[in-house]
Amino acid sequence: MTHVAVLPGDGIGPGVAAEAIRVLDAVAVGHSEHPFGGNAILAGGSPLPDATLAACREADGILLAAVGLPELEGKPVRPEQGLLALRKELGVYANLRPASAPGIDILIVRELTGGLYFGAKGTRDDGTWFDTCEYTRPEVERIARRAFEIAQGRGGRVTSVDKVNVMHTSRLWRDVVNEIGNAEYPDVVLDHALVDSFAMTIVEQPETIDVVLTENTFGDILSDVAAAVTGGLGLAGPASLGDDGPGLFEPVHGSAPQIAGRGIANPAAMLRSTALLLRHGLGRADDADALEQSIDSALVKAPTPDLGGTATTRDAGDAVLRALERSPTL
Ligand code: NAD
Ligand code: IPM
Ligand code: MN
Repeated sequence: MTHVAVLPGDGIGPGVAAEAIRVLDAVAVGHSEHPFGGNAILAGGSPLPDATLAACREADGILLAAVGLPELEGKPVRPEQGLLALRKELGVYANLRPASAPGIDILIVRELTGGLYFGAKGTRDDGTWFDTCEYTRPEVERIARRAFEIAQGRGGRVTSVDKVNVMHTSRLWRDVVNEIGNAEYPDVVLDHALVDSFAMTIVEQPETIDVVLTENTFGDILSDVAAAVTGGLGLAGPASLGDDGPGLFEPVHGSAPQIAGRGIANPAAMLRSTALLLRHGLGRADDADALEQSIDSALVKAPTPDLGGTATTRDAGDAVLRALERSPTL
């Protein structure tokens, strides 16, 4: 039987995860919840307990809400380390982050298990602290192929974003992307942009962008920019996929400590990730379509405060469920 591991996490995580669980129940998908992030550190010392990792490996897909506790920021053991470890352990190197609004349809393909996040880091005897951006050719090849394949199924264009004027790894990145594009995907229109000016392009001309292929850290930053341009972090629901094994479905947003505990977080991002779980993780395209349409209608009927409305997380979840229950495919 299909089974989903749910990691509610911290802050607004449990509140938005509760709405995703109601949706899983509505579409008859089995699920179980597991400690992860800050709450898991406080309970047992590790942000990714062994039992949680084992449950994730056995699941058909993983829904992760958000991690992060202000009191653990900058501490030696942090919730975010659990998230990075989970991505690495599952091998989910392709983080697909859609950002859409009327006239805008961007898909950021963020490399997720390499680069600056995973290179050598430490402190030297002279007191220097360092992080290192590292990539191998196969790591760039596989994420490039993923981006080109996705582009073939949508607008047919890829913009590869790097910092080739400064960074050594960007030279590898650009060479490999050109090679793969020219040799294997001649039908896809490829161009390149430098990350600083491309951030401006996202703000000023988002409607000109199709698929964006970029390094881990650049993708982290640019996906928040793209979310801001298309309605905010409450709406951005991505998927993190590998070549096989369960996918990790996690909103772009974090635990939002400023609004945590007030019941007003927008569950749409979490629910959009749930739709991607149904589509890519569980092969249930009809349910995914129905859920996406239900989210769109709920955003109009029951907008949360981030969208200028007064609906609570539960109100918005109720509106999604009402629309879903009326869906002809369910
Ligand atoms: P954040 O994404 O949590 O919040 C940024 C802003 O967006 C805040 O103003 C917040 O109120 C708003 N926001 C975010 N999600 C929202 C939602 N669903 N509905 C309404 N408004 C929403 O970023 P931050 O404040 O920089 O980070 C807080 C913590 O979250 C940090 O500990 C960080 O490490 C962590 N974080 C975790 C993840 C994750 O688990 N995937 C992602 C990003 C940040
Ligand atoms: C995200 C988050 C994470 C990242 C953090 C919490 C480790 O910001 O998913 O965008 O930087 O990848
Ligand atoms: Mn981020």
